[in-house]
Amino acid sequence: MLHRPVLINETLDLLINRRNGVYFDGTCSTGTFSIEILKRLDENGSLIAVDLDPYALEVASSRLKEYHNITIIQSNYAQVEKLLPPLAVEKLDGALLDLGVSSFALEDARRGFSHRFQAPLDLRFNPKGEHPAAFQAIEILSGDELASILRQYGELTNSTKLARAIKESSPRTTTELADIVAKFAPPAHRERTLAKAFQALRIYVNDELENIKTFLEKSPKILAPGARLAILTYHSLEDRIVKDFFRRESQDCICPPEFPVCACGHKAAFKILTPKPLKASAQEIESNPRARSARLRVAEKR
Ligand SMILES: C[S@@+](CC[C@H](N)C(=O)[O-])C[C@H]1O[C@@H](n2cnc3c(N)ncnc32)[C@H](O)[C@@H]1O
Repeated sequence: MLHRPVLINETLDLLINRRNGVYFDGTCSTGTFSIEILKRLDENGSLIAVDLDPYALEVASSRLKEYHNITIIQSNYAQVEKLLPPLAVEKLDGALLDLGVSSFALEDARRGFSHRFQAPLDLRFNPKGEHPAAFQAIEILSGDELASILRQYGELTNSTKLARAIKESSPRTTTELADIVAKFAPPAHRERTLAKAFQALRIYVNDELENIKTFLEKSPKILAPGARLAILTYHSLEDRIVKDFFRRESQDCICPPEFPVCACGHKAAFKILTPKPLKASAQEIESNPRARSARLRVAEKR
């Protein structure tokens, strides 16, 4: 199943302001956004498309084979600065992150992203990578560490008891984990609680929030003046990171308000183009429920 994109026209209208530019799609997956980016570029424009998921990139490569101005790389977008020199690219004219998990991976029963299918409890975007899968992480983590992950990344209130129960049973499959979590969920909130527990482990196993922060911190150095940075988030933890970064980096001084004169010398790196994040229309949400939580923030490099 190909990933169904969210807010695609709104994103591309704001992202692409140079048809002959070099663009970066840090979360290419099966390539729907990448295809639409390429359609908007002219023959001098080009795209670097990256994803951690080797299976999604196989599909993207086949869908994108008619384009010659694209380079597809299996990598972490947080390594962006290392990917550019071998391609003789100094600065990008635009960069996109469309965060979260793709429907392609979610609906693949073998990947362990969904409690609806029995599978090894993996949850890694790159299952061929060196990082431990979720079931291995559960073995390595202490009960307190696991509780903190469930609380911080899944916003689960009964995390201490739940973590203890998970540690005691050492689940190795999605359904084993789902059975434990379900015991801690009020029946009316069963689906929500399961989704939150899986989300928490997925964020931890893939180091998702750190990768976003790393990419954002590097972005001023890799973007040309006037380049656009577009980030689509799907939950409040991600959105807060982007919001705080854009707010800080759109100010010349970030000294505490009580300082009489500026002591930081900080200079704004970006101009915010979306003072409020863009959200999907009711019509888009009706046809694609995943769009409900989407938030699009775009900024322009100064
Ligand atoms: C919502 S999907 C993107 C869908 C894509 N925009 C499309 O048009 O099909 C998110 C993708 O981000 C990838 N991903 C998540 N973290 C990543 C990272 N740090 N580096 C590279 N890819 C990552 C996931 O593997 C997943 O394929």
